[in-house]
Amino acid sequence: MTRIASRLQVVRNVPDLRIWRAARQGSVGLVPTMGYLHEGHLSLVRAARRKDDHVVASIFVNPAQFAPNEDFDRYPRDEARDTKLADDEGIDILFAPAVEELYPRGYQTWVDVEHLGRVLEGVHRPDHFRAVATICLKLFNIVRPHRAYFGRKDAQQAAVLRQMIRDLNVDVGLRVLPTVRDADGLAVSSRNVYLSPDDRELALTLPRALQTRDPEQAHAVLADAGLQTDYVDVLEDDGTRVLAAAVRVGGIRLIDNVPLEGGSS
Ligand code: PAJ
Repeated sequence: MTRIASRLQVVRNVPDLRIWRAARQGSVGLVPTMGYLHEGHLSLVRAARRKDDHVVASIFVNPAQFAPNEDFDRYPRDEARDTKLADDEGIDILFAPAVEELYPRGYQTWVDVEHLGRVLEGVHRPDHFRAVATICLKLFNIVRPHRAYFGRKDAQQAAVLRQMIRDLNVDVGLRVLPTVRDADGLAVSSRNVYLSPDDRELALTLPRALQTRDPEQAHAVLADAGLQTDYVDVLEDDGTRVLAAAVRVGGIRLIDNVPLEGGSS
């Protein structure tokens, strides 16, 4: 373990994390991320900080959840910046393992949420949710948190994980927090850094289209702007219905959703 500041420890392997965990009393909150931390991630950290005695954030760009044609290699990474932000936010442990630590040679076990993992995003990203469910279950088993914090921004991901937790009797409380947006309405995302100013302007059509709160109208707004739309559809998670969509802007794939009843995020 490397102690780099008054509080934060960066942990790179499972045995060290287990030693830390075994010595903890009180509650542990986990915030799984792929790093390049932004205000969306930090809102989850702050929620964990308020509720739990100890906060672990993981940073792991999970290769299995990227298809061969997707952006694994160029997914943004900046561990020095993430470490500084994690320290500023009062995170206790930054769990940042190498790929081989979580997928050693011979790895062969996967968690498949059969139906929810194959609709909407799952149609366009066939093995994505199986890899997300698997890595999250591994993180739950390694960290053994009382609660795990996720963003509504990825509403289907939250729904898939809720289903997995229920189906496999996983002993963790799922907390899903509202989407954090920039002042112009675009949902904050690590991939936004790749949008040119013009593409970013075009990307704003996505939250605007969702504001119609109607699948057909939203589809029409996106088509009028000339955006390639993968889907616009209603998704339900834990009694909350959201209108969700995925579009492509300047080679970047963006997803977003808005609640259909109550709330505005
Ligand atoms: P990542 O995209 O880094 O997101 C980590 C967490 O931050 C997820 O729960 C996501 O929903 C949340 N998040 C992202 N943008 C947000 C925003 N604008 N407002 C609120 N929350 C936001 O999602 C993943 O990583 C991975 O699939 C992971 C769960 C870590 C598994 O690899």
